[in-house]
Amino acid sequence: MKFNKSILFAGALLLAASCSDDKFSDVIPLPDNTEESDNGEDNSPVIGARDEQYRPQIHFTPAANWMNDPNGMVYADGVWHLYYQYNPRGNDWGNMSWGHAVSTDLIHWQEKAVAMTPNQYGDIFSGSAIYDKDNVAGFGNGAILAFYTASGEHQQQCLAYSLDGGVTYTQYEGNPIIPNTDMPDFRDPKVFYHAESGKYIMALAKGWDCSIDFWASSNLKNWTKLSEFRTQNGRMNKGQWECPDLIKVPYNGGEKWVLIVSLNPGGPTGGSGTSYFVGDFDGTNFVADDLEYPLWLDSGSDNYAGVTWSNTPDGRNIYIGWMNNWNYAGNVPCNPWRSAMTLPRKLELVDMNGSPVLSSSVVKEIDGIAGDWTQAVNGICEGGDAYEMVVNLQPSEKSTFTVGNGKGEFITVNVNPGAQNIVISRNSSSGATSFNGSFSLPGISAPYDINEEKLELHFYVDNSSVELLSADGKTAITCLVFPTEVYDRISGVDEISYRRLSSIW
Ligand code: FRU
Repeated sequence: MKFNKSILFAGALLLAASCSDDKFSDVIPLPDNTEESDNGEDNSPVIGARDEQYRPQIHFTPAANWMNDPNGMVYADGVWHLYYQYNPRGNDWGNMSWGHAVSTDLIHWQEKAVAMTPNQYGDIFSGSAIYDKDNVAGFGNGAILAFYTASGEHQQQCLAYSLDGGVTYTQYEGNPIIPNTDMPDFRDPKVFYHAESGKYIMALAKGWDCSIDFWASSNLKNWTKLSEFRTQNGRMNKGQWECPDLIKVPYNGGEKWVLIVSLNPGGPTGGSGTSYFVGDFDGTNFVADDLEYPLWLDSGSDNYAGVTWSNTPDGRNIYIGWMNNWNYAGNVPCNPWRSAMTLPRKLELVDMNGSPVLSSSVVKEIDGIAGDWTQAVNGICEGGDAYEMVVNLQPSEKSTFTVGNGKGEFITVNVNPGAQNIVISRNSSSGATSFNGSFSLPGISAPYDINEEKLELHFYVDNSSVELLSADGKTAITCLVFPTEVYDRISGVDEISYRRLSSIW
């Protein structure tokens, strides 16, 4: 479909004017050769070897071009769908479309044709998808319905449906399903079925207004506003609220509701971060428990805009995040692609110091690419594309060690029982950092539970990222790194075991 440059630009400029951190003002001018033919455009995926410097080997990346938020994650007919914010025409943010990848195991991904490109209402911003098994919306049994924000002059919610297993989408003729002309920020619809009230619920983020709207529908086309959630917690009112998700999570023999909210800027290390509230949802209002907020789903610098899959076959809450940060996402030294997703993670609620906290663990499907556990000799993990390394420590013992490579590039990990935190230092010793002044971070700090019997730290290491997840899942630190060679060793601790993770490409 031909799209209108002036709408895209007017929208981008208006949006830029409304954002004091000007995240969207970085809109790249469209190259001169972007006029599309009226015959439609070729959206076939670019197939590349994915073996360039810094190219992740166990994380999803598009072969070429810019990617940000994961979108429309849904499991349907044996296939895990991952859509994502994508610029089909370049390696910077712009021309926002939904790229598409599919998997049968959540680990190996196959890139498909771009699913949606900008239309008369604007760019295709973030959103979600559901599998309409029983034809509630009337487009057909088993249709996949995509809810997204069209971002043009205004941010409005739109619906598109796919009758071919998520490959192509038709725009619903009644769009926008939730029109909006007065709110500058009103986006990222996440839809789920709320069995207790028999209604579909949509969570929407209102950016600088620091609030989440809840809307309801029984036919997925007509929506009514239910309520608004905001907090008095000043720390959470410092940035834009984006990409909400409301999930039901088992806890202590019952269940709680967790409201995931991405915050930018104002994240745990500055820039972008993913926070959450724990509370109850009665089908109308979400009420947060009185806990010490903000709570971070990941205390690292590079896990943003993540939400969970819809319709998981076994009821797991499976999350994936954009492994980047708006502070420097446009400058990371990757070419011809930019940005990867985190590994998919299972979210659960566990107890920490008497309060519920989210725990994250990499999905068990990772075993499918894992070799046997081996003991590292001299701290070195030999060969292979990527690794899972495990370090065992006494929770009450202070320790400092590095994760790095033979080129003298490393990050430092400090375990501080007194402060009950783990601090990672990612400074100029970690590899390339000079591409953006805010990339060097001397103190990325995450809480850990010193009351656990052991502190078992798992490091998932790829060419340009380290994800630290404690075995109890309570500590999560995701950081990008750009070393000249993959980190393959730990020094400063004795017992290291590891298993190779083979390339997913
Ligand atoms: C989050 C976000 C969303 C928006 C999208 C635009 O990173 O800002 O709020 O829909 O990115 O690409």
